[in-house]
Amino acid sequence: MTQDWWREAVIYQVYVRSFADSDGDGVGDLPGIRSRLPYLADLGVDAVWITPFYASPMADGGYDVADYRAVDPSFGDLEDARLLIGDAHAHGLRVIVDLVPNHTSDRHEWFRHALAAGPGSPERARYHFRDGRGEGGDLPPNDWESVFGGPAWSRTADGQWYLHLFAPEQPDLNWDQPEVREEFLDVLRFWLDLGVDGFRIDVAHGMVKADGLPDVGTPGHLRMLGTDTLPFFDQDGVHEIYRDWRKVLDSYPGQRIGVAEAWTPSPERTARYLRADELHQAFNFHYLTAGWDAAELRRVIDDSLAAMAPVAAPTTWVLSNHDVRRHVTRYGGVARARAAALLMLALPGSAYVYQGEELGLPEVLDLPEDVLQDPVWERSGHTDRGRDGCRVPIPWTPDGPSFGFGDGGSWLPQPAGWASLSVGAQQGDPDSVLELYRRALRVRREHPDLGAGSEVEWLAAPEGVLSFRRNGFTCVVNLGPAVVRLPRDGEVLLSSGGVATEDADVLVPPDTTVWLSRP
Ligand code: NOJ
Repeated sequence: MTQDWWREAVIYQVYVRSFADSDGDGVGDLPGIRSRLPYLADLGVDAVWITPFYASPMADGGYDVADYRAVDPSFGDLEDARLLIGDAHAHGLRVIVDLVPNHTSDRHEWFRHALAAGPGSPERARYHFRDGRGEGGDLPPNDWESVFGGPAWSRTADGQWYLHLFAPEQPDLNWDQPEVREEFLDVLRFWLDLGVDGFRIDVAHGMVKADGLPDVGTPGHLRMLGTDTLPFFDQDGVHEIYRDWRKVLDSYPGQRIGVAEAWTPSPERTARYLRADELHQAFNFHYLTAGWDAAELRRVIDDSLAAMAPVAAPTTWVLSNHDVRRHVTRYGGVARARAAALLMLALPGSAYVYQGEELGLPEVLDLPEDVLQDPVWERSGHTDRGRDGCRVPIPWTPDGPSFGFGDGGSWLPQPAGWASLSVGAQQGDPDSVLELYRRALRVRREHPDLGAGSEVEWLAAPEGVLSFRRNGFTCVVNLGPAVVRLPRDGEVLLSSGGVATEDADVLVPPDTTVWLSRP
């Protein structure tokens, strides 16, 4: 590992509600995560990113924060957070927490005070309150839409409207206010003092809005992970905020990092968040949204690497998270998911693993309507089932009331078939997805040519096949429909499926990745 741990780190995403439940209430919690740290250390990841566990009414799974310095009672308390961070460090794992600066909960004391204080007050200036348009101000102040569907404005009892790019329970903060900026610098310090190694920054591209909040002009302009140019996303002014944050991060010992969740029109725009005096990493949503297609993946890989080069930031790779359909289902099968994992882990830079992908979990597509909790379901008028299907609690054991997730039930029902996908069922089975991830992460740690660096050398390959070299290491991915025979560039280190070797060749079946190494 190079000196900058984050340049090649494999970071495991824990969706706290669905990882491990220590008290049998059906909801995952911090002590639950703590009890599973040995599993994560053994898996071979370098860090964990934990989704928000702050005090929250849970209108959006904790991305609606009522108190940035408190742990929600359903997840534990501050002492649990302290113990978790300490134990993680003792296991050699770094801890990244989620910070939600674009909006608060509508139950945050600032918003409650804003409602009480009335139009024109300094309390309202912390958010975006406006009078409506049309007769009696009955129409929203502009045409902006909420990511979760419907208008991005809701009306208050006194007739003013407030902006919420997400749910009405998530009012957007006004980052033109120095007080808002000061508050978040203090929140950063609070968690850094507690020992966290970094922050994943929610909606990192959204805090600054274009002056005058101009209309977009086109209906249907907003969706999750969108890449359109919009007056409330990826505004140049946002970078000033990260320059201030970087100074705080750098004032702490060790390397504390900032990771941007930024939806931007291009990898070049994403790279701007990673200039030397800003953040360290950004999620590569251009990679996450690419299809299982050799030409498309190669283009995104090349573009991503090229875009990061001028700012000398590591490229990141991600296949799944708590907002998108799991890639077993998206790509169409476990074989492809296995192949995709070995491709991702062979690329230079840092990789993100979403809890359960190491078990090959598919998206749960048939959750009963009455259990759905994602605000998208209601806001879309029941046309979009939302993101609950990738948030179903993890199966740890082949039996037990919630497959070892906890002693009670689970807040979303787990499919019966998940017994065979549980950690207990896969452990020790060399053909399992879990053991593939373990081996891959071990090889990645031990092999000097994996992870570090920023370049790939593409090798000639038939259509539908990706083949690249990184010094003594070669990765071949067959995305095509037929077995391919290629000259064998070294010894087989690992493969996602049944490759065969014949004389000086290697035969790679469809939807399979093979790792090779030359002495
Ligand atoms: C992105 C988060 O990943 C998502 O889960 C959340 O709904 C939105 N930001 C709003 O905070």
